[in-house]
Amino acid sequence: MPFMTFNDTMKVNIEEIDDHHRTLVSLINELYDAVSAGSGEETIAKVLPELINYTMYHFFAEEDYMVKYSYPLYNEQKMEHAKLIEQTFELYDRFNAGDKISNDVLDFLKNWLNDHILGLDVDLGRYLQGIGVV
Ligand SMILES: [Fe+2]
Repeated sequence: MPFMTFNDTMKVNIEEIDDHHRTLVSLINELYDAVSAGSGEETIAKVLPELINYTMYHFFAEEDYMVKYSYPLYNEQKMEHAKLIEQTFELYDRFNAGDKISNDVLDFLKNWLNDHILGLDVDLGRYLQGIGVV
């Protein structure tokens, strides 16, 4: 069974955003597989920056929607995004300094993606549907 699965409750019903979230789930699973297979720092060193880059790309895409459609919670969400990016960069710095990616770190990533989707993005999806964008 994969470490994390994308299920229907996580759907925000905006195809582009749902696709991004599926990709993020896959990247977290890839990282988990690399860590649990003990497949070496090399794979982790490849997957971790990919996850960070993709997260930034994804957040910017969401922020584009928010700006374009005057989402009232834009400022809060942008701050939340910035905080998450900062945390992932800290993680990357610690990894580069020689820290191992522990199960706690993997749980942290899984939880933040879950909370991000269920807490913030489901609302955004509802808002966009409410104004007839999707
Ligand atoms: Fe998102």
